[in-house]
Amino acid sequence: MDIFYPLCLKTSWSMYHKHIGEINMGTIYDGLEEIGPHFELSETHKMVRQSVREFAEKEIAPYVKEWDQAHEFHKPILKKMAEQGILGISLPVKYGGGGLDYISLAIACEELERIDTSMRVILSVHNGLCSSTIFQWGNKEQKEKYLPKLATGEVIGTFGLTEPAAGSDPAGIKSRCRKEGDEWVINGEKMWISYTNSSDVFLIFAYEEDVKHKGMRAFIVERAFGGVTTGNIEHKMGVRAGETGWIHLDEVRVPSENLLGEPEEGFKIAMSSLDWGRYTVGAGAVGGAKASLEASVAYANERETFGKKIGQHQFIQGMIADMVADIEAAELLVWKAGWVKNQGKINTRETSLSKWYATNAAVRCADRAIQIHGAYGFCDDYPVARYYRNVRGATIYEGSNEIQKIIQARYALGYFKDKPLRCMPPKYDPEEWMNPDTDKY
Ligand code: CAA
Repeated sequence: MDIFYPLCLKTSWSMYHKHIGEINMGTIYDGLEEIGPHFELSETHKMVRQSVREFAEKEIAPYVKEWDQAHEFHKPILKKMAEQGILGISLPVKYGGGGLDYISLAIACEELERIDTSMRVILSVHNGLCSSTIFQWGNKEQKEKYLPKLATGEVIGTFGLTEPAAGSDPAGIKSRCRKEGDEWVINGEKMWISYTNSSDVFLIFAYEEDVKHKGMRAFIVERAFGGVTTGNIEHKMGVRAGETGWIHLDEVRVPSENLLGEPEEGFKIAMSSLDWGRYTVGAGAVGGAKASLEASVAYANERETFGKKIGQHQFIQGMIADMVADIEAAELLVWKAGWVKNQGKINTRETSLSKWYATNAAVRCADRAIQIHGAYGFCDDYPVARYYRNVRGATIYEGSNEIQKIIQARYALGYFKDKPLRCMPPKYDPEEWMNPDTDKY
C-alpha cells in the first residue's frame, strides 16, 4: 500500500490510512451511522484534524503575520501542503489522492483557516473548484491526465468563471469560444480569481452561442497552451497572504479533448463546481470563527479592568457565548453538507446554507473578538484585526450571501428543484477510494 501514498508516508497521515485499512472499510463513522444522525468525529477525522493543525501551526502560523503585512504569497507553502497530502486529501488513491471523505476535506479547510484564510483559499480553488470538478465531470482520459498531477501538487489548479462585469450573474459572462477544427479558441477576461499567478491549470467558462446557460462551455485550460496571462489584484482588504487575480485569455487554443462535459453542460458544471467551492469556504469560515474565539478567550483571561479579568464581566461573557453558539451551529451545517456530499447526492441547498451561515458567523465572531480586545483589537498587535479582514471577503466571494439567500428562498418556495445530473457528485466509498486499482471512478 505504501507505494501509493508516497507523499503521506512521512506524516501521521499514513497512520490513519492504516487505521482505515484495519477497520471495516464501510464504517468510516465507526458503525454509528446505523443509528442515524450522530455528532462524533471518527478516529480518522480526529487524525486529520491533528495532522493539519500541527502542519498549520508549524509551517504557517509563525510567518503569517509577516506575509500578511507584506501582502505576499509565500509560494513554497504549496510544496509543503502537497508533501503533507493536503492538496489531494479527498481524491481517490487511484488518482494520487488521500482517499479520505468530504468531512476530512472540511476539517482540513477549518484547520488551515484557523491559522490564515489565504491558506484555506488554496484548497477552495485547487481541491474544491478545480480537482473535484474534474473528478465529477471529467472523462477517463481527463481524470487520468490531470487528477494525479493536481492531487500531488505537481500542478496547481484554479477556476475562472467571474468576470469584471459578471459575478453574481455568471450567465452574463462575456468570454467567448469558437470551434476551429480540432481546437477551441477562447478569448475573455476573468477577475477576482484566486491563485491565478501560481496556477498551471484553469477551469474556464466561455460562451460559444448566445444562448443563456446552454451556450456556455467548460474547458480545462493549461497555461502552457499559450495566450494565458495572469496578474494579481493589489491593495486588498484581506487574504493578503494569498493571491487574488485576473486572467486574460487571448486566442487561447485548447485541444477539443479538453472540453469538460458535454458542450451544453458548461453552466451546470460551473454551478456544481460552486457546490464544491462553497463547501470549502463554509468549512474554512468555521476555523476562522474558532480562531476569533480562541484569541478572545485568551485575552479575556489575561486582561483586567475594574479589578478583575474581563472574562468575569457579563458583557464579555455574552460575546463569548454568542461565539460558541455561532461556531457550533456553523460547524453542524458544514458537517451536514459534508454528509450529503459523502452520499453522492446533489447538495446545493445544504452547501449554500452552510456557506451563508458560517461566513456570516465568522464575521460576527471576528467583530466580537475585536470588541473584546478593545483598542488592541484595532491594530495588528493581536491577530483579530487580520481575522476580521480575512473572513469578511467570504460573505462576498463564491456567491455573495445575498445569492445564498436567493438560493434558499427558491428551494423553500418551490421555485427551484434539483435535477439529476449526468455526472452526479461522486459518492464517497472508502473501500473503492483506497483501492489503487479500482475502475469504479
Ligand atoms: N448544479 C447543477 N446544475 C445547476 C445548479 C447546480 N448547483 N444550479 C442550477 N443548475 C442548473 C439548473 O438546474 C438549470 O438547468 P436547466 O437549464 O436544465 O433547467 C440551469 O442550471 C440554470 O439554472 P438557474 O435558472 O438557476 O440559473 P440562474 O442563471 O438563474 O442562476 C444563481 C442562479 C443560483 C443565482 C447563480 O447565478 C449563482 O449561483 N450565482 C452566483 C455565482 C457565484 O457564486 N460566483 C462566484 C464564482 S467564484 C470565482 O469565480 C472566484 C474564484 O476565485 C474562484
